[in-house]
Amino acid sequence: MDWVTDRAAQDDWLVVLYTESFEEQLRERRGACYTELNWIQETIVSQRDPAALVIVWHSGELIARLNPTQAIDLRTVPSDQQPSVLIDHLRLIRERDSKRTGYRAERLPDPIQKPAINSASDVVDFARYNFDVGIEQYDASLKFGNSMQRNNATRLLDMLCEHYCENDIATLHGWVDAGCGSGLVGSIIKYKADSHCPRSYEPLQKARIRAGFDYSPRTVAYARRNNDSRAYTDIFRADLRNIEPGYLQKKTGTSWVDLVIANDVLHWLFTPDAIARAMRNCRNMLRDQGLLAMTIASSGTGRIFFEAYHKVLSGVVEADAAMNECVRGVWSAYTRNPIGMQSLSNVVRCAQVSGLRVVEAIVRYEPVTYSSTEGYVNDVISYGDQILMAPLADCDEKHRHDVWRRIGSEFKAAHESEIGPGKYVHDQFVIYLIAQRVQDRRNA
Ligand SMILES: C[S@@+](CC[C@H](N)C(=O)[O-])C[C@H]1O[C@@H](n2cnc3c(N)ncnc32)[C@H](O)[C@@H]1O
Repeated sequence: MDWVTDRAAQDDWLVVLYTESFEEQLRERRGACYTELNWIQETIVSQRDPAALVIVWHSGELIARLNPTQAIDLRTVPSDQQPSVLIDHLRLIRERDSKRTGYRAERLPDPIQKPAINSASDVVDFARYNFDVGIEQYDASLKFGNSMQRNNATRLLDMLCEHYCENDIATLHGWVDAGCGSGLVGSIIKYKADSHCPRSYEPLQKARIRAGFDYSPRTVAYARRNNDSRAYTDIFRADLRNIEPGYLQKKTGTSWVDLVIANDVLHWLFTPDAIARAMRNCRNMLRDQGLLAMTIASSGTGRIFFEAYHKVLSGVVEADAAMNECVRGVWSAYTRNPIGMQSLSNVVRCAQVSGLRVVEAIVRYEPVTYSSTEGYVNDVISYGDQILMAPLADCDEKHRHDVWRRIGSEFKAAHESEIGPGKYVHDQFVIYLIAQRVQDRRNA
């Protein structure tokens, strides 16, 4: 029956062969088959993208618990006809499912509600809203734009593979991609392993658990839809602010992994305290000696642009008579660092206070050249309009457009007076950090 399982795997079906010994274990609620079926049913209802559990009924009696599933009775079908009967049955289920759920063309959910801002910590929810609304745009910028994330992720994964190679680590039980977005990390791992450098990526590719999570519901739906090649075994919704091993267990069947990867994620928590708490949550999901590998935006990035942005936006916030003092205070601070850039020393300290030993921590200068400052501003608008204009979330399009225009002029003038007219080199500094969970915190 191997061909049935192969076929099912391709089409997102899980097939359970129902035999006499299976029946006995289910009736008595014990044994490996019983445990496994529980796990399969839980997996299907809780996290798989539309999947079907198909019971292929070979012998015995089908117990009541399995009746609602899409069983096919092969007890009386001659063995040479079983393949075609089965294929027809699977096709029928698929057609029915596609009518009921839209199957592969599953619609993305509506965006989450825009959060109210009452205190500084609410800006994290604003970032979540931003990613939720903009996931298609984000993914397009990865595929077709001047994306920094794409290169960061590849470099980080190369560093990890080097580490595994130097330490003779050939297999991993599992990894988790925290803040997985549209699934960039998983697809790089899959692509690299399938193509030109299979050996070095093997530990990552062969891991039994290859999970991704994100706090944005639309992003999770999008990543699942993108996961045709099964780069990830599980994709689910979770927040770095509170994820813990029990939840990982519920979603993936394991409470610990060898590696947590967070590519361009942690600065979206904005403050060192919040970043350290998230790192501790990552640490708690790691086995002893397991690794947290991350990239994070470093302070200094886009200095001329962000100075111009701050000058214009803080002026707008100050002049907004409708804003109450508390909200004004939140946004004034926000305009100084709207993407949560961090210094290397802060990030290293966050890792240390979270019970991690820093194995490697560097800042790399990774400039991106634009033909003009306008080209850069257009890129920023398409990627981060919501997040950078967060203080103006309740204003109309025209006002936002006008503010962008003013930022663009201020930025251009500052660039020309400092560097001169012409091309704009966007100074991008990226922090790469690999840290290890150590049992004894004194070694951290
Ligand atoms: C810049 S994107 C990077 C996505 C992906 N890691 C990549 O390299 O393409 C940041 C992602 O982190 C997610 N994210 C930010 N803060 C998070 C948190 N506290 N918990 C879970 N996901 C988070 C966002 O929803 C977004 O998808």
